[in-house]
Amino acid sequence: RVVEWSLESASKGGYPHFMLKEIHEQPRALVDTLYGLSSDPTLREASKIMAEARRVFITAAGTSYHASLHFAVALSKIAGVLATPFVASEYEAYLPVVREGDVLIAVSQSGETMDTLKAARAFKERGAKLIAVSNVVDSAIPRESDIALYTRAGPEIGVAATKTFTTQTLLLSFLVLDYALLRGAILKSEYDEYARELSRASDLAAKSIAWSEGLAKKVSEMLRLKQSMYYLSRGVGLPTAMEGALKIKELAYIHAESYPAGESKHGPIALVEEGFPVVFVVPRDVYYEKVLLGNIQEMKARGAWIIGVAPEDTSLGEQFDLFFRVPSSHWLTTPITHTPPMQLLAYYTSTLKGYDPDKPRNLAKTVTVE
Ligand code: G6P
Repeated sequence: RVVEWSLESASKGGYPHFMLKEIHEQPRALVDTLYGLSSDPTLREASKIMAEARRVFITAAGTSYHASLHFAVALSKIAGVLATPFVASEYEAYLPVVREGDVLIAVSQSGETMDTLKAARAFKERGAKLIAVSNVVDSAIPRESDIALYTRAGPEIGVAATKTFTTQTLLLSFLVLDYALLRGAILKSEYDEYARELSRASDLAAKSIAWSEGLAKKVSEMLRLKQSMYYLSRGVGLPTAMEGALKIKELAYIHAESYPAGESKHGPIALVEEGFPVVFVVPRDVYYEKVLLGNIQEMKARGAWIIGVAPEDTSLGEQFDLFFRVPSSHWLTTPITHTPPMQLLAYYTSTLKGYDPDKPRNLAKTVTVE
């Protein structure tokens, strides 16, 4: 008997696709990133550059942009400082105001995305300092930056980013904390408390994956028949909801929109009819639970099919037609707890529809052209 063997199947480590393997690698990738950061003096150097800067900009493309949005939300809530996040290909709109004393954080898994590289170069030319956040040591963007911070997710083969997103949000959260401490915006005791929450990241991701895999498979059977859906949240949950929508678009080719839930009544609710799927990403925060309740009810009243991604102890459990329970944790870890169910949902819907989630049509892992 001839044993079928190929380098590719061997490197998938028993998983049918790289994407599924990489989803399951998140707990390890988060631990490695955490250890990497704890022994890396460049985090403090990057915080110093930020502390000396007059304004902070952050740019990226695709999934890395969603991690950048998480950074901006966290920076405002924890450090009381406003950062300007922008999609890299839109850099020209921001360029006229850039000058010496500004800093740009360029986030790119590959470190080679042309849009992000061009934005970084243009900002640098105008005198801004550059901080790179990447997963690939010595790639183009880190090379051109004043300083580079690295996630330690390991190589990501699947075109759709998974483990690099959760590790980016972990790294960027630590950058916020370190900066806030340096600026005196938080006390050392507060820093320690936040850091303790973040150090649970690996465990949280592991639980979130284990708790949602079965349900993701089941839900994909119904989702595969849908053409359009929404991913809604507010505030700290919004970047994560946007990432959920991107995954289902990229992999299952279902049209998905993500926007702040309060906007429903200003237009998007017009599309909602019986059975229209709406995913609500609910961060652990009493305020958001309260405001999201109204948003869920207005969708339900139009017959929407409500899929909740929420902490196990949420007060909104009864509102959901389907409930992806995630471990209860601090709002700062929302991308880490809430993204895995949505990654799995996109993965299983994609395979069920007969697509290859590792190689979505029209997409490339790294876009090195404009
Ligand atoms: C491509 C990929 C996306 C990725 C984006 C940014 O479009 O298909 O998955 O998020 O590039 O990549 P980067 O390497 O800069 O993070």
